[in-house]
Amino acid sequence: MVIRQDVSLRNYNTFGIEVKASNMALVDQESDLSAILQNEAVDYRSILVLGGGSNILFSGDYQGMVLKNNILGRELLKEDSEYVWIRLGAGENWHRVVLWAIEQGWGGIENLSLIPGTMGAAPMQNIGAYGVEICSVFESLEAVELATGKLHKFTAAACDFGYRYSAFKGPFKGQFMITRVILRLRKQPIVNISYGAVAQTLEQMGVKQPTIRDISKAIIRIREQKLPDPEKIGNAGSFFKNPTIDREFYQTLKTEYTNIPSYPINDNLVKIPAAWLIEQCQWKGFRKGPIGVHKNQALVLVNHGGAQGPDLVQLSQEIQASVTSRFGIDLVPEVNIV
Ligand code: FAD
Ligand code: EPU
Repeated sequence: MVIRQDVSLRNYNTFGIEVKASNMALVDQESDLSAILQNEAVDYRSILVLGGGSNILFSGDYQGMVLKNNILGRELLKEDSEYVWIRLGAGENWHRVVLWAIEQGWGGIENLSLIPGTMGAAPMQNIGAYGVEICSVFESLEAVELATGKLHKFTAAACDFGYRYSAFKGPFKGQFMITRVILRLRKQPIVNISYGAVAQTLEQMGVKQPTIRDISKAIIRIREQKLPDPEKIGNAGSFFKNPTIDREFYQTLKTEYTNIPSYPINDNLVKIPAAWLIEQCQWKGFRKGPIGVHKNQALVLVNHGGAQGPDLVQLSQEIQASVTSRFGIDLVPEVNIV
């Protein structure tokens, strides 16, 4: 295992920001990680674990050790009449895992098709799309504690999953490298078409009784229309989380903004699409040199080529300020700013 110095991270983040890491190593197996943690020249506190770099914004060079997770492996651990339990290397490409599960006829993650990145990062923010979050099929994960090199197992309860949240973004932030994830998938899939756009797209496709493969195809079609392909235009998906507000506050806003979209969370809380708030503040399609806001999705900040991290951070702050000033709602970044 080789530790390289002054490595360009340009091809390791989907925003395509040109920054350097002081040190970088590829972790192909757990023993590579042990070797790094035993190396006295490495300060474990300086480690940044990187998957596909699709949810990260570098605001400058990284003065530390970047560990690119390449741990592979797909194992069928056990099965019963209803479920299979599969153990996946954290470096596996997420979308390829989804396609593989569909190929086997195992259901539960087809709604999460085409989300970029790795298996290991998926529980990190409890990835979600089109009515499903990974926590619904999550069994447990294995992670190595960077301070001690010890392997720990985390159940779903220990991960404390929430909307775009897990304990790995909270109290455990920066302390572990997730190495393996165990998912529990259904042998007789139950399809989920609760998200309006999915049902509409299936109808356009002429599908009446969708299989998990049809769901995946429909979602790929929707995503390709709405979201920019990071291969063509730098981005990290939704830059902010969708905010949740009190129902009472929502009713007040609705008197002024009668067309404000909303999704009820419970009797007291309502989720508002951040994209709508940003669009109302006239940011959609905004461009200043290489940075901007995507023309089809106001929640996606983009690098048209050659952008610097701090300029994108500044743009994100200007967007936050205008949404706060107009609506009294504070947007919180979903992307990890480093
Ligand atoms: P990275 O960006 O490499 O890392 C993200 C964070 O996790 C960092 O803090 C990193 O340090 C940490 N991390 C990564 N791997 C590990 C590990 N093994 N152990 C410990 N920490 C780790 N997300 C959604 O939830 N839903 C969507 O619909 C969605 N759509 C997207 C569409 C586009 C076009 C893009 C570019 C992104 C989208 N995302 C979406 C965001 C992103 O794809 C996910 O968050 C994904 O899980 C990130 O995976 P990654 O491997 O690229 O993580
Ligand atoms: N909208 C606008 N303007 C826009 C885009 C959307 O007003 O430019 C409004 C519309 O009212 C639309 C609503 O926002 O109905 C929701 O839009 P969309 O279905 O595109 O979803 P989103 O809320 O913007 C969320 C996730 C996505 C996920 C999709 C589908 C967050 C922060 N984002 O986006 O996740 O793919 O739903 O489930 O929750 C990501 O996390 O990176 C990501 C892309």
